Amino acid sequence: MADEALIKAAITAMGRAYAPYSKFPVGAAILDQDGAIHVGANIENAAYPVGNCAEASAIAAMIMSGQKRIMKIAVAGGDGDLLCTPCGACRQRIREFAAADTPVLICGPDGLQQGFTLAELLPASFGPENLG
Ligand code: THU
Repeated sequence: MADEALIKAAITAMGRAYAPYSKFPVGAAILDQDGAIHVGANIENAAYPVGNCAEASAIAAMIMSGQKRIMKIAVAGGDGDLLCTPCGACRQRIREFAAADTPVLICGPDGLQQGFTLAELLPASFGPENLG
């Protein structure tokens, strides 16, 4: 799977965000173990804390399809200036289903800006292994 398809899926998902309050649409696309892509976008709410992030939506889509491993994830947000890296909570959400070396591709509306590994974004992390 070329990164290009995953990046394009994240950018397309960004266009489907429901973000009337922040006006900051974010899209996420997950590549699973079978080579399928699962997408999500941020979905805000008039009761602000109830809104959810793009990564959480994409993870929910992956889980509902029956998959449990994130092989790669692309996140697209912003105008291509600052990096739209996953928020702290989403780094932990990704951690649940990904390995330390899982690529996290940060994108703007025009494509890839910078690639990280999950461990670079969430070093010395707590995860499912800690619970045995
Ligand atoms: N947002 C995401 O969807 N993912 C992130 O990792 C960063 C922030 C959303 C949440 C909110 O709807 C908007 O971006 C502004 O914070």
